Amino acid sequence: MRARAALWLALCTAFAAAEYVDPQVLDACPGYTAENVAINGSTLTADLVLAGTPSNVFGNDIEKLALEVVYETETRIHVKITDPSTARYEVPETVLPRPPASGTVSPDSAAIRFNYTSSPFSFSIYRTSTSEVLFSTASHPIIFEPQYLRVKTDLPANANIYGLGEHTDSFRLPTHNHTRTFWSRDAYGVPNGTNLYGNHPIYFEHRKTGTHGVFFLNSNGMDIKINDTETGDGTTLEYNTIGGILDFYFLAGSETDPTEVARQYAQVVGTPAEVPYWSFGFHNCRFGYTDFVQVAEAITNYSDAGIPLETMWTDIDYMYKRRIFTTDPDYFPIPRMREIVDYLHSHDQHYILMTDPAVAYAPGEGYGAFDRGTELDIWLKAPNGTSPHLGLVWPGVTVYPDWFNPDTQAYWTNEFALFYSPETGIDIDGAWIDMNEPSSFCVYPCTDPFAQAIEQNLPPNRTTLPPAPDAPISHDNSTANSTGTVLKRQALTDDEMLNPPYAIDNAAGGLSNKTAHSDTLHANGLVEYNTHNLYGTMMSVATREAMLARRPGLRTLIITRSTFAGAGAHVGKWLGDNFADWDHYRNSISGVLGFASVYQVPMVGADICGFAQNTTETLCARWAMLGAFYPFMRDHNDDTSIPQEFYRWPTVAEAARNVIDIRYRLLDYIYTAMHKASLDGTPIVNPLWYKYPRDENTYGIDLQFLYGDSILVAPVTEENSTTVDVYLPKDTFYDWYTLAPMHGEGSNVTLTNVNFTSIPLYIRGGAILPLRVSGAMTTTALRQTPFELVIAPGIDGCASGSLYLDDGVSITPATYTSIDISYKKGQLTVGGHFGYLSDLRLARVRLLGAPHAFSVPQVQWSNGTSAVNVTYDSDNKVLDLTMDLPLSGNFSVQLS
Ligand code: GLC
Repeated sequence: MRARAALWLALCTAFAAAEYVDPQVLDACPGYTAENVAINGSTLTADLVLAGTPSNVFGNDIEKLALEVVYETETRIHVKITDPSTARYEVPETVLPRPPASGTVSPDSAAIRFNYTSSPFSFSIYRTSTSEVLFSTASHPIIFEPQYLRVKTDLPANANIYGLGEHTDSFRLPTHNHTRTFWSRDAYGVPNGTNLYGNHPIYFEHRKTGTHGVFFLNSNGMDIKINDTETGDGTTLEYNTIGGILDFYFLAGSETDPTEVARQYAQVVGTPAEVPYWSFGFHNCRFGYTDFVQVAEAITNYSDAGIPLETMWTDIDYMYKRRIFTTDPDYFPIPRMREIVDYLHSHDQHYILMTDPAVAYAPGEGYGAFDRGTELDIWLKAPNGTSPHLGLVWPGVTVYPDWFNPDTQAYWTNEFALFYSPETGIDIDGAWIDMNEPSSFCVYPCTDPFAQAIEQNLPPNRTTLPPAPDAPISHDNSTANSTGTVLKRQALTDDEMLNPPYAIDNAAGGLSNKTAHSDTLHANGLVEYNTHNLYGTMMSVATREAMLARRPGLRTLIITRSTFAGAGAHVGKWLGDNFADWDHYRNSISGVLGFASVYQVPMVGADICGFAQNTTETLCARWAMLGAFYPFMRDHNDDTSIPQEFYRWPTVAEAARNVIDIRYRLLDYIYTAMHKASLDGTPIVNPLWYKYPRDENTYGIDLQFLYGDSILVAPVTEENSTTVDVYLPKDTFYDWYTLAPMHGEGSNVTLTNVNFTSIPLYIRGGAILPLRVSGAMTTTALRQTPFELVIAPGIDGCASGSLYLDDGVSITPATYTSIDISYKKGQLTVGGHFGYLSDLRLARVRLLGAPHAFSVPQVQWSNGTSAVNVTYDSDNKVLDLTMDLPLSGNFSVQLS
């Protein structure tokens, strides 16, 4: 046994600094021994001492580590392994505040438990009720080096793993030789299998016995490798990160309800920010509206085509030389822009403009945004610590705000106030923030961005480099840890940051290619190497603050491209630069599911009809209909693609009118779901398996999904096809259009003749939907229309639903209405808090699956004598009651 270990150790050492290391070699590294284990209530601490000759695979093994395990709640265990001798980088609390621990949890009562073996040290997490091991490092020693940390767990064969995005892979991740890389990247074309814009190192694992979650709180570059074992009887999941610490949150989830783990994750990273009611309306955008006339035309064309346009967007085209916080005086003069905004506002529509983070490097040109930032000294710095780091973005050579600098928030708020002010500028209703990976077009080493600007046909701004760097400063300094002990901060050389010994599988190549270089300096002694993945989220927080300062007390819609765990507490997200093709149409569903049902960023959508390349009439029609069930619905495309506003083709226009009408009728339903999400993280879009956790057929489904928890969306997914196989679990469903009941058998139903202007939709049995009676051209008009309740009884004959309403814009609304609606034994009961009244009326109740007609006298309203007209559709078994009743207080009605 010993000889074998020695052999592996020899191999392990020999492979040091190799790009690829055989997993068996890593598994033969010495690992640690747990000593001085101390248990105090809900906390366990131990020293982890290197258990043998250092392996030094990608640097020197740290000799002694500190382990801390805390049962933070009954369903959450926090496991943290640090190097007590050095202040290593940790994700700052200012970016992701840590969840409070309840402090009174007894391990005996916790839903999951921590178990460990001292020598060699390994740990596992198991479910208390079943003793099932959920995570175990038993066969894989922990490796902890300055720039390489590894933890590896064994999982069941063909494990059902979801999350670990941002990605365009299947929603259930492949388990064969699959690597998820985390390093924010401007990922044009969003290729499968690569790292994209955002980073969410959280996964949910689903078994028939329950669903749990594992969140690795680390913002360094990393590869998470999932693979099946050689013998095929298991799966392994391996974290390989190039910095930070080992910081895990294990979430118990639940044995029966998969959405429980989503709520538990929200307790860690924050619940989603509430958005305005209007932001669920339809948005239109395009890169390439070359002047204000084209923007104005698009607005009127939508109106002429009878397609509701809620919000118009304008891309960087409006800027002067593509510089943020400017307008082009010839093509987008401020007075004309203001006319557009005024027109939109007077028609209850909204306006959003693009703001990129990069600011044109323009010394001496009188460019205010650059001059004021330079004065405040808030740009990311080159390694010399004095000159700004230069990149290359739309306006040419640029500098980048450093969101860690304490003065940057004031700068950003001020720029927003100056440029977007209703008095002096353009009064936007929301913000669109982009290129915040941060993106640069400059190819590393980017020694002369001006030359690259000319090569790439971008404005060079100037043609000379800034003054030569001063003497390099040292990154090495000290910092106090949480207990006040002053530790030496981990210091990496420029070369170590630029070329770490373990090279993650970044699709852009080196860490610094086409982004801020990894040795770039931030304030407070921080470096891009550690904080890169936070840039987009920090810009999101700063933008939200800036918008709040402009519009105190009002919710706003902010849509970002780059996100980190926790971003949803501040902003929404679009899925970036997809292509106008069927693959991207299809994989947008797994993208939306990832953000809305796992990462807690529910306000999400893909560019409808596709961003790059040319769409087609049929693709755009199908996509308009699918996109109506993204929480965030926006048509957007590239300046080199053909225009694709929905009114451009008759089929697309008709499809859009049909589906926006449905979306708007469901708007209060999704708004209610969003409100619930903002309170506790309950997902507003669900994969099928969240609702049918025992049905294995649902685990891999990502071409169908649930909008809210009760509308099954089953788009046609193949080009030129009018057929789709819809999987219906064993349950009662109702066709959205005919309302006829269908009994799901746990098999596919093949639909044929699905024309290009409709999308198959089903209501899940057990739901009561609060619908608006008819759609409208704006969400403001929609709010004036009465409600209809659609009762869709489940197999047990019961149904329930809810409705939340407020003014739709205030962060803290003065009044609200929150109603629970239930149907049981023939009785419909509506009750709750009726604060927001605003002339709400109930015009219709439809009972689906009604076995026979009821005559009028049998309908007894408990709160009045409103006349009720009753009809019965025997073909589809729909009992239809029309009335005009104020929705202002509790009532019940017996329907049989
Ligand atoms: C980026 C964005 C895209 C935008 C373009 C121009 O590529 O992802 O949505 O249109 O920049 O601003």
